[in-house]
Amino acid sequence: MTLTRATRADALSGRFRPPGDKSISHRALMLGAISIGLTRISGLLESADVLATANALESLGAGIKRDGDDWLVEGCGIGGLKAPVDVLNMGNSGTGARLLMGIIASHPFSTIVSGDASLNERPMGRIIEPLTQMGATFEARDGGRLPLTLKGATSPLPLTYTLPVPSAQVKSAILLAALNTPGETTITEPIPCRDHTERMLAHFGADLHLKADADGRRIILRGERELTGRPVHVPADPSSAAFPLVAALICPGSQITLEGICANPLRTGLFDTLREMGADIAFGPAQEQDGEPVTDITCRASTLKGITVPPERAPAMIDEYPVLAIAAAMAKGTTTMRGLGELRIKESDRLAAMAKGLAACGVDVEELDDGLIIHGKGNIPGGAKVESHLDHRIAMSFLVLGIAAENPVEITGGATIDTSFPGFAKAMNGLGAHITEEKTSP
Ligand code: S3P
Repeated sequence: MTLTRATRADALSGRFRPPGDKSISHRALMLGAISIGLTRISGLLESADVLATANALESLGAGIKRDGDDWLVEGCGIGGLKAPVDVLNMGNSGTGARLLMGIIASHPFSTIVSGDASLNERPMGRIIEPLTQMGATFEARDGGRLPLTLKGATSPLPLTYTLPVPSAQVKSAILLAALNTPGETTITEPIPCRDHTERMLAHFGADLHLKADADGRRIILRGERELTGRPVHVPADPSSAAFPLVAALICPGSQITLEGICANPLRTGLFDTLREMGADIAFGPAQEQDGEPVTDITCRASTLKGITVPPERAPAMIDEYPVLAIAAAMAKGTTTMRGLGELRIKESDRLAAMAKGLAACGVDVEELDDGLIIHGKGNIPGGAKVESHLDHRIAMSFLVLGIAAENPVEITGGATIDTSFPGFAKAMNGLGAHITEEKTSP
């Protein structure tokens, strides 16, 4: 077993580019694999999650190889994927599994999809339901869980669907299935969630239109149009940037700059929330890169105060609540975050994992059905061992806590960090943190 330990740091300083955006990396590989011609991807996140997607797409017939620092994808065209000869193992990745099942749902062959212990506990019913309406059939484990067998539709049907939860994975699975479906598929999202799929589909030449009306945002996709392989420059992941950013905010005297961050407004809720808490965060000028806004972000250590986080902001910062909870624990006053039932079905039950870990570190925290209330005192005792629950963001959050706490914090299962942020400890130590790894007997 590996124990990862974070010890209190002095001021953090420096600049670096966090790894490529996980959501965009999965999508770039997938759209490349179903386009005509070559897609060159630079800045791809080379993490366990994304490599699982690359392997799965190769098993489905796409050509994928590393070329210098880039990745090259030779696509099969719309409807051109082939039945894999083995189980597709999607590792820890909900995004990889759900989006890929969307693509396969409109290909006429059977596939078995599985994952690690965390992924195999996560609900797939939310994609099974609309993809079944499009003509796919699923045989899943109880509770709509992986491993499952998916038989793609021979004659897929277009769908008109209103998203019951603001989930970009559900929206994207339907859009990807619709690419090989005749006619027009229309998705209505009453509450907008990350729109990387729509932006990248436009970049690859899909027949896609957006409309907004009283019911929300409508996405209309006409299927069976070929996509053309395109260069994709993957910006740095704001969800990964969140960890050094919060660490710098709560370590007195710090100032760091994070370069090339995706500033898509449906991903920047954490920065708005931290600013409301008093954080000094400055965005540089934004540049458009393959349909996504990209910018540098500079932040300085700040005295934070507790706030009530607006629940309607949740989709724009859904992956950032664990690290927000660390900022809230270091703030002065009470921070209330609600409307977060979705956090119970992420890589772990993040509300339970955060509440337990914070309490072990001496933080006054209340766990609600749909959120957390954290009573911050401006300092954290620390001095605990916290379980990562096979969840990269839980692991990184408690290492950030350890960087600012009075006593060192250890986490178990730190290898899970490679899911989204390979080289996390090295990058943090480059800014002045003290994160060490120690192998212990099993
Ligand atoms: C993602 C969507 C979100 C997010 C996940 C990545 C995506 O999940 O939590 O980390 O890339 O589409 P939901 O669709 O479940 O909200």
